Amino acid sequence: MALGRLNHVGVATPSIEKSIALYRDVLGATKIHEPFDLPPQGVRVCFVDTPSSQIELIEPLGENSPIHGFLAKNPAGGQHHVCFEVPEIHAAKADFEAKGIRVLGEPRIGAHGTPVFFLHPKDMGGVLTEIMETPKQGAAH
Ligand code: CO
Repeated sequence: MALGRLNHVGVATPSIEKSIALYRDVLGATKIHEPFDLPPQGVRVCFVDTPSSQIELIEPLGENSPIHGFLAKNPAGGQHHVCFEVPEIHAAKADFEAKGIRVLGEPRIGAHGTPVFFLHPKDMGGVLTEIMETPKQGAAH
């Protein structure tokens, strides 16, 4: 297992539009991507670029969104997960499982168009951790 780049920090929000205004007007973010829906994951997503990484703003999409529970506990929103890149998603999954870390579900296509999975926060020091295959050069985002 080789730890890759911190691809993004996921931030749950009740309003992507309000969060965009915060990152733009208060923090001075200049590269804010167009928000888009990810219906299979029940989220609406917007990436904000920073010089070294990205913030992934996540708003609930639909009644069964997994973000509703998070916002019930954190009505103003908050830090939801961190995402690290790995070179090969299936090798990473096998490696985590061999170490007894619970992998939540099978790899699926994430917001960057490459396969991702999540690791159980109870096995990761309380941090919901997303593992993402490094996008090939020239891919979107
Ligand atoms: Co993410």
